Amino acid sequence: MLAPVACITMSNKPNWPAVRVPIITQRAPKPCVHSFHIPVSAAMLASLLTMPPEPPAPALLILDRRVSAGWLMIAAATPAMTPEARDTEMSQKEVYEFNVPTFGKGVVFDVDHTTRAEQFRFFASALKSDRLRQYVGMMVKEAEVYFAKWGDEGEVDLLDVLSELIVLTASRCLLGREIRETLFAEVTTLVHDLDKGMVPLSVFFPYAPIEAHRKRDKARKDLAAIFDKVIQGRRESGSTEPDVLQTFIDARYKDGSRLTNDQVLGMLIAVLFAGQHTSSITSTWTGLLSIANKDRIFPNLEKEQRAVMEKHGDKIDFDVLAEMDELHFCIKEALRMHPPLIMLLRQCHVPFEVETTEGKKFVVPKGHIVATSPAFAHRMDKVYTEPEKYKPERFKGDKPEDKAAYASFIGFGSGRHGCMGETFAYMQIKTIWSHLLRNFDFELVGDLPEPDYEGMVVGPKHPCTVRYKRRKL
Ligand code: HEM
Repeated sequence: MLAPVACITMSNKPNWPAVRVPIITQRAPKPCVHSFHIPVSAAMLASLLTMPPEPPAPALLILDRRVSAGWLMIAAATPAMTPEARDTEMSQKEVYEFNVPTFGKGVVFDVDHTTRAEQFRFFASALKSDRLRQYVGMMVKEAEVYFAKWGDEGEVDLLDVLSELIVLTASRCLLGREIRETLFAEVTTLVHDLDKGMVPLSVFFPYAPIEAHRKRDKARKDLAAIFDKVIQGRRESGSTEPDVLQTFIDARYKDGSRLTNDQVLGMLIAVLFAGQHTSSITSTWTGLLSIANKDRIFPNLEKEQRAVMEKHGDKIDFDVLAEMDELHFCIKEALRMHPPLIMLLRQCHVPFEVETTEGKKFVVPKGHIVATSPAFAHRMDKVYTEPEKYKPERFKGDKPEDKAAYASFIGFGSGRHGCMGETFAYMQIKTIWSHLLRNFDFELVGDLPEPDYEGMVVGPKHPCTVRYKRRKL
């Protein structure tokens, strides 16, 4: 039997709140195991190839272990995004389990749902707003010291420099004073090895005997030895610090027990990895896209900075950053166009039904993996006008484009497992760009880079060169 040549349906009718326009489904010619990179039929291949962004790598990531009827469905958002979907129904554990060798045993994806929920309570308390207020002070200091080292003019690769600054800031806010002040170089090298130990092969074979994994495992062990000493030091001296490390040291499960030193490190690595590349990439795209559209974008950004400075002088804190709406929308628009996490995955533990516009019902069976692609959802012209254009103003006013339908903007995910570090990330990126806007003028060197779909977290391809010139706003 041949597969139909047209896409079977576009759906408007969700039976789960997040499953809205468009849903594209297609049937394979025969029962099959979904391939990693070959769509079920030629008809689907055509839709995937014409689907923005270019190249359409995210939509091609179909994971399935067993033979199925071969239905491939692409939707703007899946039940993974709904607040109602519980972990016992839509589970992250199986699809993100490949992180266990990096994070370590006994944390996040290596524990049952109940323990994990408690550990996420620890993340939440580390990232709540009274803590963020303190972190902003650290972010501002790191940015000032870092950019003070720039000359009067020069060229930099924006992704390289912002990644470096974000590592410095993260080590201060998350890993703590001891690491930032005395062990920074050593820890950064180990974190780098840990990071490089996560390659596409790791998703399927996280323990494959390859050099990258060997280095990863050694780095994880060496980090454990370093953190053991730091945590022991704090426990013995009774000293406390306003950082994420302290929150995890002090955390208590409901039964009164606490995380072991190794689990404290595992939680820190998880939060560090959640925020590191995502924030570096988003701050870089914010800069690149704003500079590339300088005549249209910079006047508003500079006007806002002048107004804020008139009101607050040079002071930058949590409340001052919260007033920078123009900058906020520039960041959000960069994240819409280039979300670093292009595929959010869940495994269905209960079958769920999707109904098409023609009233036809499909059941995604238990055990299947469902995927949501922010990269695809953010470029739908049914939701966003001129989706290929950098237009921060689309989020302004009383009818922001992303609010017309549920889960239209999913750069930070959505629902039960939406990003816990969203405010942290905005604060960090705003700290960087408010400082840069106040102190430098920029020009893009060369063309705007393409996204690099080879990375696990998708950022711009190198070079991301910009020319800067020091000046006071
Ligand atoms: C621009 C920067 C960031 C982006 C684009 C981003 C994006 C995301 C996305 C899409 C998810 C959902 C993943 C899924 O549904 O499978 C997520 C989850 C998460 N993010 Fe972020 N993130 C960013 C920064 C941060 C930062 C700075 C932190 C911490 C300091 C952080 C901590 C977390 C945590 C703990 C989760 C897991 C929430 C849960 O599973 O309940 N993120 N992030």
